[in-house]
Amino acid sequence: MGSMRVAVVGATGAVGREMIRILEEREFPLDELILFASARSEGKRLSFRGESHPVRGLDDGWFKGVDLALVSAGSGIARKIIPRAAAGGTVSVDNSSAFRMDPSVPLVVPEINPDALGGHRGIVANGNCTAITALMPLAPLHRAFGLRSLVTSSYQSVSGAGMKGIRELAEQVEKLHGQEETLGYPDAAALPVGDVFPRTIAFNVIPMCEEFDPGGTGFTTEELKMGGEIRKVLGLPDLAVAATAVRVPVAVGHGVSVYGRFEARVTAEGARETLESASGVRVVDDPSAGAFPTPLDAAGLDDVLVGRIRQPEDDPHALMLFAVGDNLRKGAALNAVQIAELLARPAASA
Ligand code: A2P
Repeated sequence: MGSMRVAVVGATGAVGREMIRILEEREFPLDELILFASARSEGKRLSFRGESHPVRGLDDGWFKGVDLALVSAGSGIARKIIPRAAAGGTVSVDNSSAFRMDPSVPLVVPEINPDALGGHRGIVANGNCTAITALMPLAPLHRAFGLRSLVTSSYQSVSGAGMKGIRELAEQVEKLHGQEETLGYPDAAALPVGDVFPRTIAFNVIPMCEEFDPGGTGFTTEELKMGGEIRKVLGLPDLAVAATAVRVPVAVGHGVSVYGRFEARVTAEGARETLESASGVRVVDDPSAGAFPTPLDAAGLDDVLVGRIRQPEDDPHALMLFAVGDNLRKGAALNAVQIAELLARPAASA
């Protein structure tokens, strides 16, 4: 592909808006940008390169004349619209989980497995936001020391559930404003609960992201994505992964606590050195200076911030760290645009 016609599907959403912003920031070589959302948004206008662009509702032929589509409209819509677009010659980078585990669909983090793009059949999957945040430090550590097993706990912001997640938190914070002291003895019946999260998210954390695995494992679907996607991107089908995913009242930025065991002996200092030369990762780790990363430090940045790098006692093969990434950017829109940049290079587009 040379310069091209690009569509953003889900343009009005939390990730879609970020996709538009990042296409502009990175001066993506496109001739025309076409914005799609649901029929509810028809008539809205969004700005790109100083010009206002209309938002269109999706129709059956939306992909005609579109070379590349960045899609972030949920997995139900992705399943419905993307295979037809691929058959019509449009390459889609899909941010949903619909195709990630399909063996014929590459799941790509450009810093880690760009070669997986070769041979795509018109669909490329963008990873889960928490999986990408964990993978950014894990991939270079795996290359250096050989990852053998993984335990993670993630602290996931409400924007991971889209604009509606952000709105639900904001509404609940407002409702509970002034009642903070009574929350020591809450009146359960009076606590606000919305449509997006299964419990009150303001002044609380919820150890249940998405839904429980219908297979009855006791894990949630969000937790199962961690194992599946990390194994696929690292090419380690037998990697043992155990994940806990928790929704926290943070607007933007997912944190992941990682406990990894490696084939080789590893030290905190060796891991720090490895991560300091890794692209897309920034080490923020100096206990003596009080330096460690938080979601607000990572929000708006491209790099995944990594700190709290330490070794548990008596295990020279184990390492712990805390990684934080902007879930809307590297966890979603930025990674998708980076994939699009690879696709736009003539050698990778075949
Ligand atoms: P809309 O704003 O018109 O509802 P988020 O994850 O932040 O909630 O965003 C979801 C994105 O997916 C929004 O842009 C939303 O558009 C879009 N979307 C939702 N349902 C549809 C649909 N049926 N067809 C096209 N886009 C949709």
